[in-house]
Amino acid sequence: MTAAEKALELIADGMILGLGTGRAATAFIHALGTRVQAGLRIRGVPTSQASDQLARQLGIPLVELREIEQIDIDVDGADEVDPQLNLIKGLGGALVREKIVAASSRKVVILVGPEKLSPQLGTRGVLPVEVVPFGVPLCQRKLAALGIPSQVRQTAGSPFISDNHNLILDCQLQPVADPADLARRIGDIPGVVDTGMFLGMADVVIVEDGGQVQVKTRLG
Ligand code: A5P
Repeated sequence: MTAAEKALELIADGMILGLGTGRAATAFIHALGTRVQAGLRIRGVPTSQASDQLARQLGIPLVELREIEQIDIDVDGADEVDPQLNLIKGLGGALVREKIVAASSRKVVILVGPEKLSPQLGTRGVLPVEVVPFGVPLCQRKLAALGIPSQVRQTAGSPFISDNHNLILDCQLQPVADPADLARRIGDIPGVVDTGMFLGMADVVIVEDGGQVQVKTRLG
């Protein structure tokens, strides 16, 4: 069984679903599309232009956040997951919309491989931070003062531009003892839109490893 198939077990007729971004979320959207073509009635809220386009191609009906009260289940990937199910996300560059969709959801389900599990956030070394282009010099100086080197993400030799027309700073992290404190300090820098730290947001993490899945649930 795949993580996407396991996540589909949680989906019921009539639900509104957050549609994540990245490889794991793409696998889920494909699996969901097959179910929709077979008659499942759901609506999706995409977290990126890429997921929006894929969902449309697969015939998944979409809805905008302003048209609904709440999303039932958000299904997304992650770059790092700690034992409390805190996450680092954003290597796909969609972290701001992903966090808005996750925060609009009753339940957040994260699909990962075992390589994403880490004893402490920061162990995998990267934290994406979305910044307003005008604020980049200040943000990089303030991050450096926190002991965090950063670089503007590049794609094919040019700066990567997010769906919100911002830039992404890839911050070099060491394992972080107090992620909430660090997220707050970075979030306080003028020009920072948001960080890839998703703390206390994931309810379920489905780990796919060699055809087996393990389901982790956040306690409390
Ligand atoms: C997109 O911005 C990211 O948050 C992704 O959800 C995350 O990078 C995981 O992506 P993969 O499933 O491609 O590893």
